[in-house]
Amino acid sequence: MRVLLGVTGGVAAYKAAIVLRRLKEDGHTVRVIPTAAALQFVGRATWEALSGLPATSDTFDNVPAVEHVKLGQQADLVLVAPATADFLAQLAHGEARDLLGNALLATRAPVVVAPAMHTEMWEKASTRANVATLRERGITVIEPAVGRLTGPDSGPGRLPEPDEIVAAAYAALDGKSPGTRASSIPWGDLVGTRVLITAGGTREPIDAVRYLGNISTGHQGFALAEAARERGADVTVVAANVVLPVSEGVTRIDVETSRELAEAVRATASDVVIMAAAVADFRPRETAATKIKKDGSGTLTLELVETEDILRGLVEAGGRFVVGFAAETGDDAASALDHARTKARRKGADLLVFNPVGGGRGFGDVPNEVTILDAQGEEVARAAGSKLAVAHAVLDAVVSRRH
Ligand code: CTP
Repeated sequence: MRVLLGVTGGVAAYKAAIVLRRLKEDGHTVRVIPTAAALQFVGRATWEALSGLPATSDTFDNVPAVEHVKLGQQADLVLVAPATADFLAQLAHGEARDLLGNALLATRAPVVVAPAMHTEMWEKASTRANVATLRERGITVIEPAVGRLTGPDSGPGRLPEPDEIVAAAYAALDGKSPGTRASSIPWGDLVGTRVLITAGGTREPIDAVRYLGNISTGHQGFALAEAARERGADVTVVAANVVLPVSEGVTRIDVETSRELAEAVRATASDVVIMAAAVADFRPRETAATKIKKDGSGTLTLELVETEDILRGLVEAGGRFVVGFAAETGDDAASALDHARTKARRKGADLLVFNPVGGGRGFGDVPNEVTILDAQGEEVARAAGSKLAVAHAVLDAVVSRRH
């Protein structure tokens, strides 16, 4: 499952590193959000090295990914350890001063907090009232341990041991075993993977001002880039005539023609290639340097030649996990899905993502519907929904097939 681990500013922050370790050992994906004060005690490098994921604190870090909302929405559990008296006050009042506050406002997941502070602070009427409010609202507030505190003093206020915190967190999951909670969007399962995505539609020049093109907008390819980035991949997008912006952290190479697209794919090192672009199958043999004029005959004949089949080249070269796309329409000979199955066998890509098109389906910022096939044309998965949801389903299939 995906755990958001909030760390607030107290000496006990170092114990949160052990909590993080335990959660990782249990197979969970943990994203740490330290507050600015927590970073006074344990630095960001520790959180990032142990979690393998970015550990940002500020709401305005990575704005294009809308992390202040997504992290909370996507979490299966939010655990804050240690939680200071000041943090409890903020939480009780629904304040969103930083990334952690925002994530807590945006989550519907169970929230568990492990307070740690001096006994006087823990017993203060304001803190007692805040704790009571949080408990009334269904938040699990772990009782602090009694013992030695930061200075020479001792009493209630000590952060419980990491194993107790982890056990209390699991207990808060409605009795469900943490392993059985389905996570729709994993964090970090593509960390260290270089993913190359082609997107948009190529344009093959006819003359100085005209081209042969297609109606692809690049939305699905760009959604794949966003999804792969969210999952920690190193992402490059080869964008053929796409007007959309890319997510932060994604490398973009703009191209126009199928030849430029082929060259960009060849020149970019990658472990996974997803060919979401609509690449022209034919291009004019000649491109006129000037604008072609009408010659009065009432017709114009263009001679077209086949373009390089980039996908086939990738499959033949080997060494990369290759995903193709097939936008198909049905006809008298076969259904759209049957055409896609035949194409999957012919193309030999590790996966072929089929989506039915025609009648307004498939192109632009509209929901998509896909069937993912393997190289034998067998169905691997189906997905429907926003292009981002479909992108994650494609990446789920990539992750499970690569291992
Ligand atoms: N593709 C490619 N190079 C081309 C044409 C297509 O790499 N010259 C890729 C597309 O990016 C897509 C997949 O191949 O991932 C399928 O594209 P499509 O045009 O459906 O395949 P074709 O083999 O051209 O089949 P058809 O005869 O149906 O056009």
